Order: sequence, then structure tokens, then C-alpha cells
Amino acid sequence: RMYKSRTICRSDIDSFEAPFLAIYESLIPPEEEKAQQKQLLTLLEKLVSKEWPNARLYLYGSCANSFGVSKSDIDVCLAIEETDMDKSDIVLKLANILQSDNLQNVQALTRARVPIVKLKDPVTGISCDICINNLLAVVNTKLLRDYAQIDSRLRQLAFIIKHWAKSRGVNETYQGTLSSYAYVLMCIHFLQHRRPAILPCLQEMETTYSVTVEDIECSYFDQVEKLRDFGYYNKENIAQLVWGFFSYWAYRHDYANAVISVRTGSIISKQEKDWTRRIGNDRHLICIEDPFETRHDLGRVVDKYSIKVLREEFERAAEIMQYDPNPCVKLFEPY
Ligand code: GTP
Ligand code: MG
Repeated sequence: RMYKSRTICRSDIDSFEAPFLAIYESLIPPEEEKAQQKQLLTLLEKLVSKEWPNARLYLYGSCANSFGVSKSDIDVCLAIEETDMDKSDIVLKLANILQSDNLQNVQALTRARVPIVKLKDPVTGISCDICINNLLAVVNTKLLRDYAQIDSRLRQLAFIIKHWAKSRGVNETYQGTLSSYAYVLMCIHFLQHRRPAILPCLQEMETTYSVTVEDIECSYFDQVEKLRDFGYYNKENIAQLVWGFFSYWAYRHDYANAVISVRTGSIISKQEKDWTRRIGNDRHLICIEDPFETRHDLGRVVDKYSIKVLREEFERAAEIMQYDPNPCVKLFEPY
């Protein structure tokens, strides 16, 4: 394979701003959907608090991080101090508690890597996964949501990239491609690196928010309403950013040595993280550091076959953004 390096964008790129924005807007969930999600959460809270008055429910994932498209499932975390029960016992009991006239298909998946309860609200058709005490996910959800408030181009870019990844079948961790969470981190990292920068690095700034979860100190600057003008000097639009994103991952990312790190707002080396060789199932073929669980590479699901698939998809997308007469259609064509 030839790796061509392209740094000059096509001259008509700005003509694609409006169509990309139209796609973005069509993906935004309507207010009504948000209201239905809240209602379901309220019902769940009522049922849970009868049995466990001290337990709390948190929304996390795309329904709470502002990167959720219309018709997404919702992710809920039950925070509970039950020292004498393991997670699969709690999941079983929770499923029992939630069996009610108002809910359908309540299933306890006790043997999954992460035990969860799955259910569906028959009125709205909303599906929901409930996990136990996964508070790091609640905190990283807040980090993503806070980044999204700084500059509207992050949400635009992430929606387009997620939509592309779903259309092209590269948003399937069980098949060795990347999670939505990983793609959003790639977008944040990319915008931290534009010149002038579009996003700051919140974890390198003064601490205004701090929690310790599972012995990990999660702290960063969360007064993001003060950063609304941060990206002002960068005038790039969504079409240019989509082009730049794919061109980076197709031609410029150093897969052999580089780790992208939203935590530090920079690229760090695999060497420094000791991610240079395969350990167990972690092959580190594309390295995306989790902002809080820094030992955790979100690219760990990628294997020697799926890395090829991913890189070919990045190249396909980059070529389309550079040459195709109709990139807003071609990019999302089903595979
Ligand atoms: P869609 O459901 O595809 O719209 O996206 P999503 O934002 O819900 O992402 P995903 O289903 O990939 O993950 C849900 C949430 O779980 C994320 O927002 C994270 O908070 C958390 N999460 C997912 N994968 C990981 C992981 O590998 N490590 C950690 N710490 N959290 C993760
Ligand atoms: Mg989700």
C-alpha cells in the first residue's frame, strides 16, 4: 500500500459546509425523545428506591454526553453500596425489582464481562442497559459533555464521524473496530491540535472539579462556560474539519509510535507508556489513552485484521473528502 501525504485541501471544500450541517442537524434527537428518556429514568428511580433507598441512578454514555444521535439506547448506572453482594447478584435482584407492568423484556445478563440489566420501555420503545457502580463512565461522560460545550464544532464533527463509522461498519468493538467513546476522544484530540486550537486541554488547567473513583483521581477545569470564545481565532468549518480528521488518520498519524492523549492535550509515545508490544490481548495497534484510566488503551480491541479495515476506511474517507464530487453522500454509503 502507498501512503500518500496530502496537506492541501480541495478548493471547493467550503461548498460542503451546508450539506454537512444539514446531516448533523438531522441526527440531533428531538426534545420529545429527551423528555421520554427522563420519564423512563424517573420510573426506574421510583422502582429502585423502594428496595434500595440509598441507591442512585446516573445516566451516562451518549444519552448524557451530548453525542447521542436520535433513537439511541440509553445507558444507566446504578450506584449502590452493597458490600455483601457481587455485581451479578445485584443485577439479578435489580431485574426482579424492575419486573413490573410498565416494563418489558427485563433481562439480567449476569455472565457478561460487565454484568447488566437490559430492558425496554413498551410505551416509547426506548431500550436501556443498566450497569452497576461504573462511576468512571459517569465521570468520563461529564468530561465529554463539558468539552462539547466549549465549541459547537466538536459536536458537529463527532456526529458526522459516528454516523460515518456506523454506516461503514467500523463502530463494532466485538469485531475489532472502535467504540463511539473512542471516536469522540479522537475528535477531541484532533480539535485540541488545530492551529489555532479549537479546544483546550481541560485536564491540564486549574482544577475546579475533582472526584476520586476506584483510586483514580479525576480532576479538571469544568467551568466551561468561561471558555466559550476559546476557538474564536480558528475559522475552520465542519467540512474542513471532516477533511482534516480523515486526512490525519489516513496519512499523518504515526501508528508505529504515537498514542493520542486527551488528558495531556498532546501525542505521547508508546515507549513512554510501555505499549510497544502485545501483552495478552492488548496489541496497541492504534493507541487512544483513556483520559482517566490511563493504563487503558481504547484501541485494545483492534487486532491485526481490523487495523487494516480501519486504516483502509480512513483512507477511503480521506480520498472521498479530497476528490469525490458528492462527499456528503459517498462518505456514508453502506459497505
Ligand atoms: P452510542 O451508544 O454508540 O451512541 O455511543 P456511546 O457514547 O453511548 O458510547 P459507548 O456505547 O461506546 O459507551 C458508553 C459509555 O461507556 C461511554 O460514553 C463511556 O462513558 C463508557 N465507556 C465505553 N467504553 C469505555 C471504555 O473502554 N472505558 C471506559 N472507561 N469507559 C468506557
Ligand atoms: Mg451507548
